[in-house]
Amino acid sequence: MKGAVIGVGTMGPGIAATLSRGGLDMVLYDVSAEQLRKAEADMPSLQKVLDEIKVAASSGKISYESDLARAVREADFVIEAVPERLELKQRVFAELDRLARPAAILASNTSGIPITRLQEAVACKSRVVGMHWSNPPHVIPMVEVIAGEHTDPGVVERTRRLVADCGLIAVLVDKEVPGFVHNRLLYAVLREAVSLVEKGVVSPEELDKCFKWGLGLKLAVIGPMELLDVAGLDVYAAVAGYLNADLDNSTRVPDYIAEKVQAKRFGMKTGEGIYQYTPQKLGALRAERAAKLLAVRKTLEGH
Ligand SMILES: NC(=O)c1ccc[n+]([C@@H]2O[C@H](COP(=O)([O-])OP(=O)(O)OC[C@H]3O[C@@H](n4cnc5c(N)ncnc54)[C@H](O)[C@@H]3O)[C@@H](O)[C@H]2O)c1
Repeated sequence: MKGAVIGVGTMGPGIAATLSRGGLDMVLYDVSAEQLRKAEADMPSLQKVLDEIKVAASSGKISYESDLARAVREADFVIEAVPERLELKQRVFAELDRLARPAAILASNTSGIPITRLQEAVACKSRVVGMHWSNPPHVIPMVEVIAGEHTDPGVVERTRRLVADCGLIAVLVDKEVPGFVHNRLLYAVLREAVSLVEKGVVSPEELDKCFKWGLGLKLAVIGPMELLDVAGLDVYAAVAGYLNADLDNSTRVPDYIAEKVQAKRFGMKTGEGIYQYTPQKLGALRAERAAKLLAVRKTLEGH
């Protein structure tokens, strides 16, 4: 089977490396020659991480292409990972629909744009499907598979099977809602976290400690719906009865974040966000977190 990844920034290279490890011959394409070169340079380190997770059955080949038509010409499966802008993605999908073989599946790694909006741009709507990976895609095995209004159920099933064949965990999203499931859960947590810090209830450091060593650790093993049964639905009903009304339910971006964005304090990429980072600290932090994520995944997989 042959695949192509369109857009190799943060997500594309890890997606390509993982699908190749699942046996697909992968072609990587980007409008930026520099991004394509960077993806090629970074590929060995991604593959090294994948070596630790799973013994490869038979890895597919990886190649790099600066011409879109050549990149997708032979692909059975194309995944788009260009920036999250509707008009850009629609333009890319219109081109893919024109250039890819009629039988090829066209998937999007959109974080939350409804797949039906992407289908508006293509003639063959039934082959467009959502395939939402979590960052870093070569470490986090969960992939949401989302049907748009016009997606053929056979395309959903083939995508789900491809995810499973690559040793990953497919989550089928039955109804298309903005943000799908992963990001709705994440943004619910982030809204309350920022609100607690903004109100001065807790410092960022103490909040992160609370989440990582309490909820985070537990939720990696016991999902929220399972946790309801563990706690007891009667207990949940009693607490939710007074607590839900007190949780943050604002619909705007909190001032705490908006002010930092205004001042261009974006986080790790600018050296300062909620916390401050020196270049040395950045490298060490990234390496430490990658190693810990890998260790947790291995533990959860039982090896
Ligand atoms: N970064 C994340 O944590 C994350 C997680 C899950 C999903 N996503 C989603 O994945 C997609 C990609 O995100 P990212 O963070 O990798 O973006 P990114 O900005 O890091 O990379 C996007 C790449 O697309 C390239 N590109 C731009 N226009 C193009 C075109 N017309 N054709 C081909 N390539 C083009 C850019 O040169 C760049 O290399 C987005 O839809 C995003 O919402 C991101």
